[in-house]
Amino acid sequence: MRIDILTIFPGMCMPIIEESIIKRAREKGKVRILMHNLRDYSSDKHKKVDDRPFGGGSGMVMTPQPIFEAVEALVRQGNVESAKRRVVLLTPQGTRLDQKRIKRFTKYKQLILICGRYEGVDERVRTSLVDDEISIGDYVLTGGELPAMVFVDCLVRLLPGVLGDKNSLKFESFEGNLLEYPHYTRPAAFRGLEVPNLLLSGDHSHIEAWRKEQALKRTKRKRPDLLKQ
Ligand code: ADE
Repeated sequence: MRIDILTIFPGMCMPIIEESIIKRAREKGKVRILMHNLRDYSSDKHKKVDDRPFGGGSGMVMTPQPIFEAVEALVRQGNVESAKRRVVLLTPQGTRLDQKRIKRFTKYKQLILICGRYEGVDERVRTSLVDDEISIGDYVLTGGELPAMVFVDCLVRLLPGVLGDKNSLKFESFEGNLLEYPHYTRPAAFRGLEVPNLLLSGDHSHIEAWRKEQALKRTKRKRPDLLKQ
């Protein structure tokens, strides 16, 4: 998969893709992540990418020209059939990201992520260029860079061959609309706090049943909304 990130602050994103699992996924060739500075596509002599809103009002709006030209150039570079490509705008107005939605994005060959800034982007970007508008939650960040990194992080770990252990995906939170069961490691007793005996028993069918029950209990307590879905 190729992921293109269009931003006026590439420096905000670089540290995230240069560490840990994302870094290894890139090195193993499981994903290509390409950072693009939107200003490089501006035809303005001062490389401006924003302007005052028509009709007045506060704040600035990102102009359509650099965004359209950047996306068109990246589409040409990517050279994948349009059904295998999505242009995604990170915006608080978008559909809320969750595990189901991020999974759907794993089937594409190219994703172009647009990080919005200022008061927003010119509406023509939304209506004529963007396939999906994605929000990472009902709060407003200063821009789409952190949301794009959240998107990339939860996407890349789902790509085939990125996480070594397939089971770690099968049993994680939100799988089957359940939160994960409790985990324990050594020591078996820590400051008088003991690990449930059953986990030390080696009885795998009982352990599995206990974990299922625990996952259900904690989902009921912490996130009853998940069980209603
Ligand atoms: N840009 C600003 N806030 C955002 C959010 N919550 N989700 C996605 N993009 C954003």
